Amino acid sequence: MQQGLVQSFIILKNVLVCRASSLAPTILNRELSTQTGRKLERKVALITGAASGIGKATAEKFISNGAKVVIADIQHRLGQETAKQLGPNATFIPCDVTKESDISDAVDFVISQHKQLDVMYNNAGVPCYTTPSIADLDLAVFNQVMDINVRGALAGIKHASRVMIPRRAGSILCTASVTGIMGGLAQHTYSISKSAVIGIVKSTGAELCRYGIRINCISPFAVPTPFTINEMSRIYPHIDAEQLARMIHKLGVLGEAALEPSDVANAAVYLASDDGKYVSGHNLVVDGGFTSFKRLEFPAPGQVL
Ligand SMILES: NC(=O)c1ccc[n+]([C@@H]2O[C@H](COP(=O)([O-])OP(=O)(O)OC[C@H]3O[C@@H](n4cnc5c(N)ncnc54)[C@H](O)[C@@H]3O)[C@@H](O)[C@H]2O)c1
Repeated sequence: MQQGLVQSFIILKNVLVCRASSLAPTILNRELSTQTGRKLERKVALITGAASGIGKATAEKFISNGAKVVIADIQHRLGQETAKQLGPNATFIPCDVTKESDISDAVDFVISQHKQLDVMYNNAGVPCYTTPSIADLDLAVFNQVMDINVRGALAGIKHASRVMIPRRAGSILCTASVTGIMGGLAQHTYSISKSAVIGIVKSTGAELCRYGIRINCISPFAVPTPFTINEMSRIYPHIDAEQLARMIHKLGVLGEAALEPSDVANAAVYLASDDGKYVSGHNLVVDGGFTSFKRLEFPAPGQVL
């Protein structure tokens, strides 16, 4: 009887020691990040589409918060330059998100270099340059855009989950868009692709929560990056990039505040870090309130006859 009690005590002690040792890195990370104010201390992140724009700004913020970042992008030269610019905690790996093997290799590269993947940010995306009417929809272009914006993100989630599920930890992010929550802000193809990203986050989040893995997306309003500047310079070829950026900023509704890539990066730091430890399946809209309201513009009394 007494022997049974001792055995139970030993088993309980072993379980507690095991639990404590598996929790130790998490607790240590939390304590470290509280002490240093660096929210991603010792975390390793893989960001697709990080050679420029929002992805690059996020890589920079992640690194300044203590993370090591692997930049995965289809633009080889720019990706290498970005990694060099961001310093020793940034590495570049060529990756075309439409090729599942590239994403799988990028995840394996992270594991071989850093032994862990804490944050996967599926950010790579392209606009759509087709005519706006549904009657003229080009389904071949639709497939190309969906391949990058939707299938690419899904493949990223799949391969991140492959290494995160056994560790029962991780944070996955995707870049969606305000165009995915509201019609009329972009061509159908692009809007549909971003709605799908929001849906993917909810669907996969339902499974991943069982393993303690969080998945969220960020929906930014228009931000001046090569993505938007290139798109706009097709419509306004005579206007320079600075002026186009000002035009983009003027589309916002939050007073004089202007949305920058670093604002989206701040949202990513929140979701990736323990600050967002109980946030999952969420679409964090960074739009200054744009998609939350519509104002009724009544004519002034003096204007009504
Ligand atoms: N800029 C905006 O106004 C805005 C608003 C909402 C959402 N977004 C989304 O933000 C994300 C980032 O865009 P951005 O504005 O920083 O533009 P960006 O053009 O600066 O960055 C996009 C990056 O994705 C990379 N990329 C494109 N196709 C790829 C592929 N097949 N494989 C790997 N990488 C690929 C590009 O090389 C580029 O570096 C995109 O998903 C975009 O849809 C942008």
